[in-house]
Amino acid sequence: MKFLITGSAGFIGMWTSKKLLDMGHTVIGIDNLNNYYDLKLKIDRNNFLKKYKNYIFFKLDLSKDIKKIDQLIKKYKINHILHFAAQANVRYSLTNPTAYLNSNLIGFFNLLELCKKNKIKNLIYASSSSAYGNNFKNHKSFSENLRTNTPKNLYAASKICNEILAHSYSEICKFNSIGLRFFTVYGPWGRPDMAPFIFLNKILKKKTIEVFNSGKMSRDFTYVEDVSNAIIKILFKSIYTKKRIIEIFNIGRGKSIKLLKFINTYEKILNIKIKKKYLPLQKGDMISTKSNIKKLNNFINYNPNTSLLNGLTKFTAWFVNYYK
Ligand SMILES: NC(=O)c1ccc[n+]([C@@H]2O[C@H](COP(=O)([O-])OP(=O)(O)OC[C@H]3O[C@@H](n4cnc5c(N)ncnc54)[C@H](O)[C@@H]3O)[C@@H](O)[C@H]2O)c1
Repeated sequence: MKFLITGSAGFIGMWTSKKLLDMGHTVIGIDNLNNYYDLKLKIDRNNFLKKYKNYIFFKLDLSKDIKKIDQLIKKYKINHILHFAAQANVRYSLTNPTAYLNSNLIGFFNLLELCKKNKIKNLIYASSSSAYGNNFKNHKSFSENLRTNTPKNLYAASKICNEILAHSYSEICKFNSIGLRFFTVYGPWGRPDMAPFIFLNKILKKKTIEVFNSGKMSRDFTYVEDVSNAIIKILFKSIYTKKRIIEIFNIGRGKSIKLLKFINTYEKILNIKIKKKYLPLQKGDMISTKSNIKKLNNFINYNPNTSLLNGLTKFTAWFVNYYK
């Protein structure tokens, strides 16, 4: 089968493309290769995918190159789209709001119009755990039926908008749309703007790491291959299900790890003592995240089983090898 993957040179897009290519499918990848973070990493991910004969890449921007993307969908007779292209990160949305407007709102709207015009059958798109904000501090975990209409920052707002827009287009145009709320995805080829990467980079350079909210934070860390395996299962289930699907699913590990335990795991892996500097909570940050994964478990028998120790060990090995 053929799939269009947006953001294929990004972290999750690359891993999902790889899984589909390994299965023998054809992936049409698009990415604008912007320089929000180290462009070389994106190019290297893309070069890794280009080793597969059935990976076809186009440098295109969803907020601008809509005609060209339309031509691609027609040329390759695309029925299924996996959409990961976006401006990610909560903190960056405080200083660079326009990037979110362009990629996450205009880009997403353009994509929905293309789905309508080309009678796309399945749209699977990235949302975020940020949608939950700090509203549910007293809840043991975040489940998909909680109200998410009070976002704490523009990034979260843009993702909630995506979910609402996708819902309305699916209702009217009758295509499947599945939004995935990812919870702190980490692993080889990971993003340089996220804590697992920032910490490891500083630790290996023997620098002090900054621990926000005095370490009283926790995150549901999810290993990238658990995520990409789940995406593939969701994709094929939606392709082979006759009934129309309009859904939102959490993709997390279902466990919340305290920041200090997370740092301690690096100490174990590297067998060193890490220097820490404690700082207050950063503006826009959530204190704690924990996914409730029952809904996804019921849908695809989702059972993410990579422990933090195993996942961070794999990430560390990749990091040391990649950055020498
Ligand atoms: N990694 C996580 O923990 C996490 C958590 C929650 C949500 N998400 C969401 O999952 C998706 C993938 O995340 P990721 O970690 O792979 O991020 P990423 O930044 O590595 O990948 C996104 C890719 O999209 C591309 N892109 C951005 N704007 C574009 C545009 N207008 N046109 C074409 N390409 C564009 C970027 O160049 C990048 O390669 C994003 O939507 C992100 O918001 C990720």
